[in-house]
Amino acid sequence: MDIICSLFVSIELLYVLPKISYAADTISASQPLSDGRTLISKQGSFELGFFSPGDSGEKYVGIWYKNIPVKTVVWVANRDKPINGSAGALMINTAGSLILHDQNGSIVWSSNASSLKLPQNPVLQLLDSGNLVLRNEKDDNSESYLWQSFDYPSDTLLPGMKLGSDLSTGLNRQLSSWKNPDDPSAGEFTYRIDLYSYPDAAVWKLSSKYFRCGPWNGLRFSGVPELKPNPVFEFSFKSNQEEVYFTYDLKNKSMVSRLVLNQTSSSIERYVWIEDEQFWKLYASTPKDNCDVYGLCGAHGTCVISESPICQCLEKFKPKSPEKWNIMDWSEGCIRNTPLNCGNTDGFNKFTGLKLPDSANTWVNESMTLEECRAKCLKNCSCMAYTNADIRGGGSGCVMWFDDLTDMRQLAANGQDLYIRMPASELDHEGQSDRRAVKMLVIIAATIGSVCAILIFCYYIWRKVNVQERRENSGEAGNEDLELPLLDLATVTSSTNNFSDDSKLGEGGFGPVYKGTLADGQEIAVKRLSKNSGQGLKEFKNEVILIAKLQHRNLVRLLGCCIQGEEKMLVYEYLPNKSLDSFIFDQTKCKRLDWNRRFHIICGIARGLLYLHQDSRLRIIHRDLKASNVLLDHEMNPKISDFGMARPFGGDQTEGNTNKVVGTFGYMAPEYAVDGLFSIKSDVFSFGVLLLEIVTGKKNRGFFHPNHSLNLLGHAWTLWKEERPLELIDGLYEDSSSLFEVLRCIHIGLLCVQQHPEDRPIMSYVVLMLGSDGALPQPKQPGFFINRNPLEEVDSSSSKNKSYSANEISVTLLNAR
Ligand SMILES: *[C@@H]1O[C@H](CO)[C@@H](O)[C@H](O)[C@H]1NC(C)=O
Ligand SMILES: *[C@@H]1O[C@H](CO)[C@@H](O)[C@H](O)[C@H]1NC(C)=O
Ligand SMILES: *[C@@H]1O[C@H](CO)[C@@H](O)[C@H](O)[C@H]1NC(C)=O
Ligand SMILES: *[C@@H]1O[C@H](CO)[C@@H](O)[C@H](O)[C@H]1NC(C)=O
Repeated sequence: MDIICSLFVSIELLYVLPKISYAADTISASQPLSDGRTLISKQGSFELGFFSPGDSGEKYVGIWYKNIPVKTVVWVANRDKPINGSAGALMINTAGSLILHDQNGSIVWSSNASSLKLPQNPVLQLLDSGNLVLRNEKDDNSESYLWQSFDYPSDTLLPGMKLGSDLSTGLNRQLSSWKNPDDPSAGEFTYRIDLYSYPDAAVWKLSSKYFRCGPWNGLRFSGVPELKPNPVFEFSFKSNQEEVYFTYDLKNKSMVSRLVLNQTSSSIERYVWIEDEQFWKLYASTPKDNCDVYGLCGAHGTCVISESPICQCLEKFKPKSPEKWNIMDWSEGCIRNTPLNCGNTDGFNKFTGLKLPDSANTWVNESMTLEECRAKCLKNCSCMAYTNADIRGGGSGCVMWFDDLTDMRQLAANGQDLYIRMPASELDHEGQSDRRAVKMLVIIAATIGSVCAILIFCYYIWRKVNVQERRENSGEAGNEDLELPLLDLATVTSSTNNFSDDSKLGEGGFGPVYKGTLADGQEIAVKRLSKNSGQGLKEFKNEVILIAKLQHRNLVRLLGCCIQGEEKMLVYEYLPNKSLDSFIFDQTKCKRLDWNRRFHIICGIARGLLYLHQDSRLRIIHRDLKASNVLLDHEMNPKISDFGMARPFGGDQTEGNTNKVVGTFGYMAPEYAVDGLFSIKSDVFSFGVLLLEIVTGKKNRGFFHPNHSLNLLGHAWTLWKEERPLELIDGLYEDSSSLFEVLRCIHIGLLCVQQHPEDRPIMSYVVLMLGSDGALPQPKQPGFFINRNPLEEVDSSSSKNKSYSANEISVTLLNAR
C-alpha cells in the first residue's frame, strides 16, 4: 500500500513538475495551455497566461510584463467573455485557429484565422515584443503569420504595434479602453485613425468624437505638439494605397514603455517604466486641457487656453449668437464679419500657430506646391482653407478643407499655418490680391499711417520735454499723468546709501532688492531690475501704473518707480519681518508661528492670490509664488510680493506660454516647467506647494526622508494614501484642538498640486474650502511626485547643481529637440 502510494505520489510529481517549471515561449497543436501554466517570451520580457483582474474571480487570458512587479496587462484575448472556474484552456484547433474553451469545452473566444489554406504544423509563440503569433512551424517570417495579437489591440499600444488600417484586408486596429481597472471589457473610449482623405487620429467616446489628435503633418499629429522629435521615442506614420497607420518605437531598446487609452482618466497616457524607482512614470498625457475638448469653440472659433474666455473667434469673424457666446455657450461658433460672395476677388489670410481643423471633409494631393494649392482652392467656391499637407523641409503637398473649420486651437509651440478664404475687403495687407483698388487702399492707409506716426512721435517728444521741464521745476515726480510717483535716481540712490551691500535685502528673480530710507524717514524697499529687459520704456511705465492700481491687504504695495536711462527700479513699502521662508524653515523662528498664525497666513495668501486672479481688472498670473515671495508685516500678516513682475519685465502675459520660464523649481506646475504653459492653475499648484510647506515646516525641494526618495509632495501623497497624514506634521503643533483644521489644509494642499491643471480648484474655491468645513473631493496623484534621481549624486559636487532633481531631468528630456 505504502509503495503504491509513494509510487502514485512520484508519478503525480513527475506530472506536476514539468508544468511548474514550464517556461517555453511556444506551444504546438498538441499542447493546450491550461490555467496555471504560462508562456514566457525568449528574453523573458512578456508572459501569457490566465489572470483575474480585481477580485471578481473571472478568468481571462492575457499578456503582461514578466519582469515588472506592478502587474500590467497589455493584451486580453477574451476581454468581453470571461471564464468562470479554473479549468479553461487555450489551444490550437484542427482548423488552425486559436481557441479558448471553458471546463465544459464550449468555446469562449477564438482567433478566427481566415487563412484559406490549412496551416502546416501551426505553433503559437509569444515574442519579446509582446506579440502573440500563430504561424507555421517552419515559417518565421512576420509577413506570413496566420494571426497575431498585435492586429487586435486591447487598450495598449506597445512599441512596434500599428494603430490604423490595412486597406487591402479591411483590418482596422484601434485601441479601446477597459471599462474599469477590474473589467477589461471594451469601455466607452476608442482611439483610432479615421480614414479621411487627410487621415486624422482621434479618441471617440461611444459614437461621438471626444478628442482629436489631428492629422499627421509629417512630424506629428497636428494637435499633439509634444510628439515632436525627441531623444526617447521615434514616431512614424504611413499612409499609402495599402496601409494607413501610426506606430512608435523606443530609441533605447532596453527602455520599457507603453501607450494606453485609459477610461478612468479619459486620456491617452504614455508611460515609461522607471527601473530604479520601480514605477510607471507618466511621460505625457492627452488631452491636456479644456481646449482639447472636441469642437468646444464651434465653427471658426479657436481655443486659446490663456485667454478669458478661452474661446475666441478667428480674426475677421464674430460670434454667431453674441448672447450665447457671452454666457460661454460657444457651440454655435463664429461667422464672417463680411460674407463670402465667391468671386475671383477672394483671397486668403494666413493664420499661424494652430492645431489644424477637423479634416473629415478634406482633399489631399501629396505632390502639389503651396502655390498650386492656393490656385486650386481659389477656383472652387466650397474650398474654405488650404495648407501644406506635410510640413517637413519647408512644406509640401496640398490639403484643402470643404466645410466649416472646427476644433482649432492656438498651440503654445509647434502650431501650424492655415490659409483661410476671405472676401477681398477682409484681406490682410500680406494677402496678395492684384486688384488695383486694394493696392490703392493700402497706399492710402500707409500714407495716413505714417502721418499719424509722425504726429505721435512729435507729441511724444513734446511731452517728454514738457515732463522733463516740469520735473526740473518741481524737483519731484510728475505724477498727474502717471498716477504713480516717479522718484528720481538721486533720491533713490541716496536713500539706499548708494546701493551699498549693507542695505541689500536679497536677490529676487528680476534683480537685487535694497532697503532705503527717504528723507522724511519712510522706509522703502527698492527693487533694481536687471538691465536686459526686452521692453520699451513706455510699455514698462504703463505696466507699472497698472500694477500700482492693484491694492489689496495681502499684496505688497508698490509706492513708485524710478526710470532713468537704463535704470528701472520699483519702490515698495518696506516690511520689517522679511519673508515667510525665514520663519517656517528656521529651527528657532518657526516656534513663533503657532497653528493659528499659520492658518491666518495661509488664508491671507489665498485671498491675495484670488484677488490677482479674479478680482482685479488685470487678472494677473503670479508665476513665481513661493515662501520667499511672501512678506510679513509687523502683525505677521502675509503680503504677496513680486506679482505682475513677469508683465513689465519681458514676459509675454497675453500668451499662454513663454520661452522664458520664470519661476522656481519645486513650486512650478509640471505643465509650466515642461511645456511653458502657464495659467491660473499653475499658480494654484505653487500655492498648494506653499501651503504644504507652511503646514509641515518643510521645504518641498530639498526635502529629505531616510526611507525613500520622494519630495514633500510625494511624501505627503504617500502618507495620505496610507491614511496617516498626521505623520507629516509630526508633533509640530502642541495644541491638538486644531488637528481637524490641519488635516483639512493638507487635503486642500493636495487638491491644489494635482497633476492635471483641470483637476485643481480655482482660488475662489480654495478660499471657500479654507473657510468652511464641508466635504472635499478626493485628490488625485500630484504632479512632480518624485524628486531625486541617481544623477543627483553625480552632480552634487558642482555647487550650482546642488539640488539637481528629477524635475529638471524631465524638463530637458521633453524640451530637447
Ligand atoms: C458546465 O456544465 C455544468 C453541467 O452541465 C453546468 O452546471 C455548468 O454551469 C457549466 N459551466 C459552465 C462554465 O458553463
Ligand atoms: C539604455 O537604457 C539602459 C537602461 O535604461 C541604460 O543602462 C543604457 O545606458 C541606455 N543606452 C543608451 C545607449 O542610452
Ligand atoms: C488609468 O488612470 C488611473 C487613474 O488616473 C490609474 O490609476 C490607472 O493605473 C491607469 N490605468 C492604466 C492601465 O494605466
Ligand atoms: C469643389 O470641390 C468639391 C470637393 O472636392 C467637389 O465635389 C466639387 O465638384 C468642386 N467644385 C468645382 C466647381 O470644381
